[in-house]
Amino acid sequence: MTALDPTGPETPELSLAERAALGSGADFWTTKAVGPVPALTLTDGPHGVRLQAEDADHLGISASRPATCFPPAVGLGQSWDTELVSEVGRALGVESRALGVDVLLGPGVNIKRDPRCGRNFEYFSEDPQLTGTLATAWVRGLQSTGVGASLKHFAANNTEYDRMRSSSDVAARPLREIYLRAFQQVVQQAQPWTVMCSYNRINGTYASENRWLLTDVLRGEWGFDGAVVSDWGAVQDRVASVAAGLDLEMPGAGGTTDAQVVAAVEAGELDAASVNLAAARTAALAARGRAGRTLPVAPFDPAAHHALARRAAANSVVLLKNDPVEGAPVLPLTAGRPLAVLGAFAAAPRYQGGGSSHVNPTQVDVPLDEIRALAGNAEVTHAPGFTTDGTGDAAALRAEAVALAAAADTAVVFLGLAAHQESEGFDREDIELPREQLELLAEVIRVQPRTAVVLSHGGVLRLAPVTAAPALLDGALLGQAAGGALADVLFGRVNPSGRLTETAPVRLQDTPAYLDFPGEHSHVAYGEGLFVGYRWYDARDIEVSFPFGHGLSYTEFAYSDLELSADEEGISASVTVTNTGDRTGREVVQFYVSKPGSAVVRPLRELKGHATVTLDAGASERVTVLLPRAGLAYWDTRAERWIVEGGAYEVLAAASSRDPRATASIELVGDELDVPLTLDSTLGEVMSLPGAAETLTALLPFPQDTGDGDALGIDMARMMASIPVRRLVSFAGGAVTTADLEELLARLQS
Ligand code: BGC
Repeated sequence: MTALDPTGPETPELSLAERAALGSGADFWTTKAVGPVPALTLTDGPHGVRLQAEDADHLGISASRPATCFPPAVGLGQSWDTELVSEVGRALGVESRALGVDVLLGPGVNIKRDPRCGRNFEYFSEDPQLTGTLATAWVRGLQSTGVGASLKHFAANNTEYDRMRSSSDVAARPLREIYLRAFQQVVQQAQPWTVMCSYNRINGTYASENRWLLTDVLRGEWGFDGAVVSDWGAVQDRVASVAAGLDLEMPGAGGTTDAQVVAAVEAGELDAASVNLAAARTAALAARGRAGRTLPVAPFDPAAHHALARRAAANSVVLLKNDPVEGAPVLPLTAGRPLAVLGAFAAAPRYQGGGSSHVNPTQVDVPLDEIRALAGNAEVTHAPGFTTDGTGDAAALRAEAVALAAAADTAVVFLGLAAHQESEGFDREDIELPREQLELLAEVIRVQPRTAVVLSHGGVLRLAPVTAAPALLDGALLGQAAGGALADVLFGRVNPSGRLTETAPVRLQDTPAYLDFPGEHSHVAYGEGLFVGYRWYDARDIEVSFPFGHGLSYTEFAYSDLELSADEEGISASVTVTNTGDRTGREVVQFYVSKPGSAVVRPLRELKGHATVTLDAGASERVTVLLPRAGLAYWDTRAERWIVEGGAYEVLAAASSRDPRATASIELVGDELDVPLTLDSTLGEVMSLPGAAETLTALLPFPQDTGDGDALGIDMARMMASIPVRRLVSFAGGAVTTADLEELLARLQS
């Protein structure tokens, strides 16, 4: 698309009032048709189309048309599979087209800063690189069908509590390196049609009024060419929003804010160019929507999409643990052997989250039925064991289930969080599974050593009490085909290959934002800085239940021959992966990068790329991944730009953030960083210049190193490293003047 002109040539025939009118919705889900500009339909998103036929709301309350409920991001992300994610994006596009939707409100790329955030199930990961990569694939898939994406929630919206007022107070480096990074990657690599600004404030300014965010960074630095849409009801002051670069307020405010925009222009309080620009961008979005409707796409086939949802879900299940019992692992189950399937979620699965993303599914697989379908002629018994609403006689429910477990060959226990325990709109206060579920599990394990647990939940759980079971499958939330997918994995029809996208901590108290969540008096201090997720646990060497990136398989993989090469694109890493087990499996090869001796504060290691590879038993493949140079950069707060440090980088090919399998290092040429030294620079900073040490020693009467270890020499230099240069005038007792020092700095930097 060509650049838009603020004088508004894209909408030359429109009056000021009409241009203002283009900038807010006609109702909850559509924009206005104004003059030649057609209306558009936008709707949620992100893991299914939520098109409300009658009453409209943004909290998933009123019914919507049936659509496939694909795995929410918390589940789908665990596949780490960009092709699969893109396929799901494409299927969502096909359904959007079938239902007449022009823009689907997703993906959500906020970082999972704290496990208590009620909306974490809609987001991919605690890691920005993984989030950005998966979301880019999702947007590309969706937009290939002529349907636009809405990248949300821009930005630093990491808590539900007080989300419409609270300010996310984040320093520049974590903001850039953690919270904005995935947005940047998706904008630059996939150009979503729209970006949705969030409800919250960022460092005091509402996202919807944040010119730095919406204009300087998003458009100026990243080259975004689409329209900025508000989250539903995120506009506080439409005039301020238009001035900041917001193009479309949703939902419409009945035209009231359009009139405010016109009045502000007429009073000289708002530049007409801002209104023209917003109108031109909304008109361009409408044109994209119209053109999209003419792209040929396959018809929506609900059965085929359900099959895709099942495949996606099965690839997203994480096998956390699979210990042997009497010499053989509990999983996969053997068909034909008596099985007790326990837990309320076996008959009434939990597969999606509550709120605006809530989809009315086309069908729902029930795990118990799907297990029975694969169990052969064995007896499969079932008891709920607990209720999710606290009703019923807990002891009697438990006793019934425990008796079935004792009588069977193996027990599979479905545990998890109920819909009312986590949702958009509020945060959790803890990360515990309900007590009656843990009591049930403890008793089942006592009578049945061959016990596997299946977990359904949107937010991270404390898993320590569950790890008493020898086998553990993490289903997170897997969408409407969860039941079939879990049965596939339990019986080994699908070899599990999902990987955690979020660390499972030992205790809530260990989590990075524990003391700064959800904030107070409408401010959230992001006190942990860069150290989010595994970056925190690794830097502080904190034990975790299961690390980021962890996931087992029914086979095993070996890594060998890691080789690195570097050019201006980044580091190319190649490693040979071999399936050393006895069945076909998929491995997620993760590449983490460290910068030993960095001049800035850095996490110990950070994910910078990954690949997936499917291998038959005994097969090997060379996997090559580019770790883009841009991804290796840190945000330099002095230069206010991204900088790649020069020197040695260490690359780990790993099976999880705590399971490195091969290590190699490589030298990179750094970016030029010209931060001029001034009289306020320290001696330490000046000493890093070539020739500075000799010059300063000659100039100043400091004690010399006598080599007798008497706190002289090197120790003196360290002691004095933090003294600003200008203070030498007094410390040197008149031996040097300010002018001398200025001349010296000029000479050293020339
Ligand atoms: C949510 C958005 C959603 C919008 C429309 C808001 O409450 O934050 O994610 O797209 O409602 O339903």
